[in-house]
Amino acid sequence: MTNESSRAAVPDLLHEAGGNRPGAAAEVARATGQAEADVFGVASFFDLLDAGDQKLAVCTGLCCRLRGADEVLSAARAAGLPVREAACLAACDRAPAVLKDRVVLPEVQPAECEEAGDDWLAVRPGAEDEAPWLGTIWPVEADPDHLVLDLAGAIESTGRASRRALELGADGVLDAIEASGLQGRGGAGFPAHIKWRGVAGQAETKRYIVLNADESEPGTFKDREVLLRRPDLVLEGLAIAARAVGASEIYLYLRGEFELPRRTLAAALDAASAAGLYDDLTFHFHAGHGAYICGEETALLEALEGKRGMPRIKPPFPTEIGLWGKPTLIHNVETIACVPSIITRGSEWFAGLGRSGAGTKLYCLSGDVARPGVYEMPLGVTLDELLEAGGGVVGELKAFSPGGASSGFLPATESGRALDFKALAEVDSMLGSAGVVVLNTTRDLKGAALDQLRFFSEESCGQCAPCRIGTRYQHHALSRHLAENGAAKPLEHVARVAHEMTEGSICGLGMTASLPLTSAMRWFPDEFPAADDDGA
Ligand SMILES: Cc1cc2nc3c(=O)[nH]c(=O)nc-3n(C[C@H](O)[C@H](O)[C@H](O)COP(=O)(O)O)c2cc1C
Ligand code: SF4
Repeated sequence: MTNESSRAAVPDLLHEAGGNRPGAAAEVARATGQAEADVFGVASFFDLLDAGDQKLAVCTGLCCRLRGADEVLSAARAAGLPVREAACLAACDRAPAVLKDRVVLPEVQPAECEEAGDDWLAVRPGAEDEAPWLGTIWPVEADPDHLVLDLAGAIESTGRASRRALELGADGVLDAIEASGLQGRGGAGFPAHIKWRGVAGQAETKRYIVLNADESEPGTFKDREVLLRRPDLVLEGLAIAARAVGASEIYLYLRGEFELPRRTLAAALDAASAAGLYDDLTFHFHAGHGAYICGEETALLEALEGKRGMPRIKPPFPTEIGLWGKPTLIHNVETIACVPSIITRGSEWFAGLGRSGAGTKLYCLSGDVARPGVYEMPLGVTLDELLEAGGGVVGELKAFSPGGASSGFLPATESGRALDFKALAEVDSMLGSAGVVVLNTTRDLKGAALDQLRFFSEESCGQCAPCRIGTRYQHHALSRHLAENGAAKPLEHVARVAHEMTEGSICGLGMTASLPLTSAMRWFPDEFPAADDDGA
């Protein structure tokens, strides 16, 4: 084993050795030749390694709490189950969700915990074998049978894109991606072709492709659906990208809780390999071990290298210095899944699908809506249109988060605004991962903001002071404000701290983490009268 590969093996070996149990770090350090302190650092960084014997975890993110997660947690504790709280499990459409080992169980009811006691997991036979998400819609025209059951058939037809890409050649593919106007779906909307050309143009010939399937932003669960329903598109998109930029090794980083999507993707890869589709490529699977920050691309690369997932300072960007210092193209699942149809149907077709921006978009709709789920719609539809597809608001619309926790909250009066990269930036929000969370008029904005602030303060990697201190400060300030019945003082420094966080943080987490509170204060001043008086 090289030092690189022993280092990369550390998280998985820790998982096998019992995570953060006493003695595990020393064992893994001996086996890999790494410093014990470094190995211990990894064991304590990742939630799933640090969880010990608590193999059950109730998601207490905003959407799950809107749908009764607190009751499930209390019932599980009362029943004596070995349970802990978990950050968002990417199941906001099927809340409340519970994690058992590394499988997500949707729509858990408190009674299931009370009735079943220690045997609780037996209440859900088959949960590990079935994809439990058939109620959601992707793509919007398709019926639930769209879930890929005939993998071999799907792969055969998807393989057309690879054949077409070969005809176009690498330059033709790069041109097609540029002409399509494809923007990354992982959050920032960065033009895909710039990254592709960035990697293709490097002098270094060892290059990598990385799939970012760490989906953990509260309110977001679209990548889960793509992986479960169209794993063939993901593999095909990765293969086309790899050949176009001159890479032969592909790393598939899936969050550790995506055990079912991982199995689906692995089955698709087996079927593709049997069909001889990707003989020129090597695919490596990596299951994360529980850390939201590892969705940030450079933190993800650190985690792949077997280290704690702490974001790197950029530049240099991964296209130049990426995995093990080599040029790396890293993309979100949805972005990559767009590639095969761009190649087979053409750039113009794709560009024409969007209303403001190119292509369709997978919008995740959850919270107080009749039919939560993933909706594929033209990029740039409004919340009103999305709600129409999703059966409308349960109750009366008060507020919504347009793009996950990092996008903050907008008021009902913004429901006619395009859900796209530009229009949302105009109101200091963002499309992000398009995790649209809807709140009705019975909901308390302060409570919703508190949930999101708690998430960020727990998920900050702690590397830089403005984020490490700022996220805790904001959470503490709102908690105190609530505890003191709306007193002004606790919120007096919120705006200044938010500014420091935005300006001084290394990565997007710290830059946006105060938005849940500052946006709530901006759009709902009546709920923060005292803070407004202070000019906070
Ligand atoms: C805190 C944070 C979390 C992120 N989480 C994810 C994620 O779970 N999945 C993802 O694809 N991108 C995530 N991103 C964005 C990635 O850093 C990166 O921009 C993306 O993977 C690039 O892919 P794209 O060009 O296809 O969008 C995150 C960014 C930040 C700052
Ligand atoms: S901004 Fe926060 S999450 Fe990002 S590197 Fe700094 S401390 Fe870590």
